Amino acid sequence: MTTTIRRAVIPAAGLGSRLLPLTKATPKEMLPVGDKPVIEHTVRELVASGITDITIVVSGGKSLIQDHFRPNPALVEQLRADGKQEYADAVEEIAELSRRGHITYLDQHGPYGNGTPVLNAARNFDNEPMLVLWPDDVFVAEVPRAQQLIRAYEATNCPVLALMPMRPEDSQRYGVPVVKEDLGDGLLRITGLVEKPKPADAPSAFAAIGGYVITPGIIDELREQTRRWYEHRTGEIYLTDAINAYAGSRAVYGQVIQGRWYDTGNPADYLVAQFAFALAHPEYGPVLRRLARDLEGHPGIDTNP
Ligand code: G1P
Repeated sequence: MTTTIRRAVIPAAGLGSRLLPLTKATPKEMLPVGDKPVIEHTVRELVASGITDITIVVSGGKSLIQDHFRPNPALVEQLRADGKQEYADAVEEIAELSRRGHITYLDQHGPYGNGTPVLNAARNFDNEPMLVLWPDDVFVAEVPRAQQLIRAYEATNCPVLALMPMRPEDSQRYGVPVVKEDLGDGLLRITGLVEKPKPADAPSAFAAIGGYVITPGIIDELREQTRRWYEHRTGEIYLTDAINAYAGSRAVYGQVIQGRWYDTGNPADYLVAQFAFALAHPEYGPVLRRLARDLEGHPGIDTNP
């Protein structure tokens, strides 16, 4: 029996429509947060958590992701020849990350819905559990979020969902777990997820935040959903439906993640993430804090008097 997790999937085929026009030419996964594109934060988190096989599921218009991680020896050579060692090292480090995480890319095929990229990637991962991380969350945590999920899997050998405490008024943005038992250290036994309930109907005060340990049993449920979709050609393939179908008769857990979570998938939260990372930067942070203080109550400079 497999006792740990080495494989991960990042579904990155979405249109990023909530961030248009920023995402008209730039994939949302490539927007910067701090000094790195969003997806590099996720890949670093996975590699730091011992993941050795990362599949990024893409669609047309996402080639910048591949360009970002692909080695570029000509650029490195040019930078070294120009004496720009620091930049050359930074470029090489990204390629090294891709090598360590053994990143491969897969075109998404199949019906609409967030279960489809997971099912696509599962074909490469014969019957092994895998991590699935949405591409628009960034975590700052002492123990990486991926590592926290892997530990919960190692303790339970069951599917695990990443959870965070949620404000009641946010329930309509997330899947909200039905909690059966609190096992301590943030590990919860859950019996399913209610998608985007009204605050009054929310079964708990946690949100599922787009990080999952998916086991072969859930892949079987996705396969079954997809088979039915091809029979009737209606509806969508959702991971939540597969998790709920599985949880009907088998154990599923939630792990409350320790750390700070930044959603980058919509303009307001994306700005918050950028601002927080800028303020935390060792060199620019103090400067920006000073600037923010100076700007407070400042009437602004009229450049068109
Ligand atoms: C999906 C999931 C939902 C989860 C959310 C987190 O919803 O279905 O359970 O809370 O991701 O980002 P979406 O935001 O894709 O509608």
